Amino acid sequence: MTALIPFLAILMGKQRVLSGVQPTGNLHLGNYLGAIRNWVEIQDQYDNFFCVVDLHAITVPHDPTVLAGNSYAIAALYLACGIDLAHSNIFIQSHVSAHAELTWLLNCITPINWLQGMIQFKEKAVKQGENVGTGLLDYPVLMAADILLYDADKVPVGEDQKQHIELTRDLVIRMNDKFGTKKAPVLKMPEPMIRKDGARVMSLTDGTSKMSKSDPSELSRIELLDPPEAIAKKIKKCKTDPARGLEFDNPDRPECNNLLTLYTLLSGQTKETVAAECADMGWGQFKPLLTETVVEALRPIQEKYAAVMDDRAYLDSVLRQGREQAEVIATVTLDRVKTAMGFSTPV
Ligand code: AMP
Ligand code: TRP
Repeated sequence: MTALIPFLAILMGKQRVLSGVQPTGNLHLGNYLGAIRNWVEIQDQYDNFFCVVDLHAITVPHDPTVLAGNSYAIAALYLACGIDLAHSNIFIQSHVSAHAELTWLLNCITPINWLQGMIQFKEKAVKQGENVGTGLLDYPVLMAADILLYDADKVPVGEDQKQHIELTRDLVIRMNDKFGTKKAPVLKMPEPMIRKDGARVMSLTDGTSKMSKSDPSELSRIELLDPPEAIAKKIKKCKTDPARGLEFDNPDRPECNNLLTLYTLLSGQTKETVAAECADMGWGQFKPLLTETVVEALRPIQEKYAAVMDDRAYLDSVLRQGREQAEVIATVTLDRVKTAMGFSTPV
């Protein structure tokens, strides 16, 4: 039945969604609230492809002994967070070779200065020092290939990925101008889908920088698989301020805004309710409340994750089916691009 999903979705006129997360380290609340939670919420309205972008994970030095395991773990977390195979396909990027191939074709029409100007490249290049690989510069083109192979209409991501999607859109214009016609564009124009709430979850140790897998301090992020004791410890130690009462949107209190936002999103309440509930609270009262909310929100995810990881045959079958579905669509797009660019077809 699931093999028929993309075809049924087309018949029902559903738009397509594509997104992905890198298998580098454990997912944290930023990944969940900025990306995966949104995938889950919208999935029944779209035809969805969610990939584990392992080719992106090697754009910074990586450990080959953990790469495959990390990819499986992220796929299991997608399922644990509620990705439903009745609406969505889950696959691993490197299992579909069209991603690397379309990247090459796009590379050849991508001005190098577009890539040199990307914020994430500049930030990551500084961290790598002498050791900046070509793949790090090319990262956004690989991401564009991920999106464009599936003719995706919408790309749900956190705020930090907006610039990469703008580059993807510029590449669509360039490809269609050079090799397409108005009636027969080569590539489909995608749109970012960035929810305001949770689009930028901040670090627990600094409310002005985003929560990130690469922050050297583990205290800066809550990971989806953190046990309750770790969550309690991180919240206990997180940065706060001396002001009395808690409030949203005060630019002088970024930590306060971030922690209230986490509480709002994970408790499922409205901002207004939380603003009223917490207006007169001190940190001593709020922190245990936040801890309990985070622990309870993550508990079902952790239980499901353990069950999926326990059944490797099931996970393998999910990924096999995901790859098969992905390959069907990716191959059609790749052929379309190659034909438009004038390549010969093998006989
Ligand atoms: P990455 O961990 O870089 O593979 O990011 C995977 C997804 O999580 C992307 O859609 C990011 O935009 C999103 N994301 C990462 N960090 C954050 C954050 N601190 N706040 C909101 N979204 C985030
Ligand atoms: N670059 C994204 C990130 O780090 C991950 C990613 C790779 C992605 N390919 C994608 C996200 C395609 C959306 C669509 O967050």
